[in-house]
Amino acid sequence: MPSAKKVRVAVIGCGVISELHLRCYAHNPAAKVVAVCDLIPERARRAAEERAPGARWTTKAAEIFAAPDVDAVSICTDHASHAALACAALAAGKHVLCEKSLARTSGDLARMLAAAEAHPDLVAAGVFQHRFEPLPRVLRDLVAEGAFGRLLTATGSLHCFRGNGYFEKDAWRGTKAGEGGSVLINQSIHYFDLLLWIAGGAETVRAWSANLGHEGVIETEDTVALALRFRNGALGSFVATNASQRGWDSELAFHGTKGTAIVRGDALSFLSFADPAAEKRVRARIEKAVSGNRAFPKGKDYYGPGHQAQIDDFVRAVRTGRRPYVTFADAAESDAMVFAAYASAARR
Ligand SMILES: NC(=O)c1ccc[n+]([C@@H]2O[C@H](COP(=O)([O-])OP(=O)(O)OC[C@H]3O[C@@H](n4cnc5c(N)ncnc54)[C@H](O)[C@@H]3O)[C@@H](O)[C@H]2O)c1
Repeated sequence: MPSAKKVRVAVIGCGVISELHLRCYAHNPAAKVVAVCDLIPERARRAAEERAPGARWTTKAAEIFAAPDVDAVSICTDHASHAALACAALAAGKHVLCEKSLARTSGDLARMLAAAEAHPDLVAAGVFQHRFEPLPRVLRDLVAEGAFGRLLTATGSLHCFRGNGYFEKDAWRGTKAGEGGSVLINQSIHYFDLLLWIAGGAETVRAWSANLGHEGVIETEDTVALALRFRNGALGSFVATNASQRGWDSELAFHGTKGTAIVRGDALSFLSFADPAAEKRVRARIEKAVSGNRAFPKGKDYYGPGHQAQIDDFVRAVRTGRRPYVTFADAAESDAMVFAAYASAARR
């Protein structure tokens, strides 16, 4: 599309995360939200009135896809509806930004990747907003450059809490049909994605899953333990639970033959090198990268500051035709490992 024009956006799904999308589009001078859509009329109407003044609202996504004044859509619905909505949007010639988890099943994921491939002229981007934060980016570069030496282990965890009310509020949560799982595909997917992304991608996963704190409340897992082998030969693990008394506590650790980095929450908590000069150099690289991390308005704390950067990137990709930073194919790497983990856990 001509780069002088604003990107005209429709947000589909007007629940929790849509507020952040609407806020980020409002902050982007090159974008304009022209329509919002939700199956629940009251949600769509309120989103238009309160968060997207001047935008129209509808309960029918088909109307959005048929509208000539919509260039792009943000898909902010439950996991089960992502594939059908994304494929229909691309078929109708709309650029797509789809929330995580890109898909609910590996079959849905394959359909979405095929639809994106069939429309190379359209932007198909998947939300993994933490990939836009400076600390994960510089750590990924440092691992790839061999700054930590040969990577030995990469491990991650998320301990968080989701009470029964969270699952009872929306019918799709904690169900196979609506969410596709629970803690792995939803709350912890960001840290799982960062672990794989920073370590250079995984090739094998073995998994165990359990429902230890939400029996009778959800049918899917609230706790997982994964063993991983990475493409570069490193080994690793990932554990997560949403039944913990910890509100939200994440950790990622990368141990190489020369150095170690540990991230707690969104900050570097530990850096150690055998060679003090190497440690000084790496610390300076990280501090320089992170010192630029002030520009984005914060969303809810645990969503991090990345949504604005990712939405800006999406809008830029639509306007200029250049590749978005996280394509469907990029996001699908982590989704595919989520589905492989679920398949492994189901065999036990
Ligand atoms: N990136 C993040 O940090 C982050 C945080 C929260 C949620 N999410 C993701 O965002 C998505 C939505 O989560 P949420 O918490 O906002 O859910 P939600 O249940 O609060 O909102 C989803 C909305 O989508 C609507 N909807 C469902 N199918 C629809 C359809 N076919 N057409 C129109 N509307 C439809 C529902 O009525 C509901 O209002 C999920 O994929 C979730 O994993 C991402």
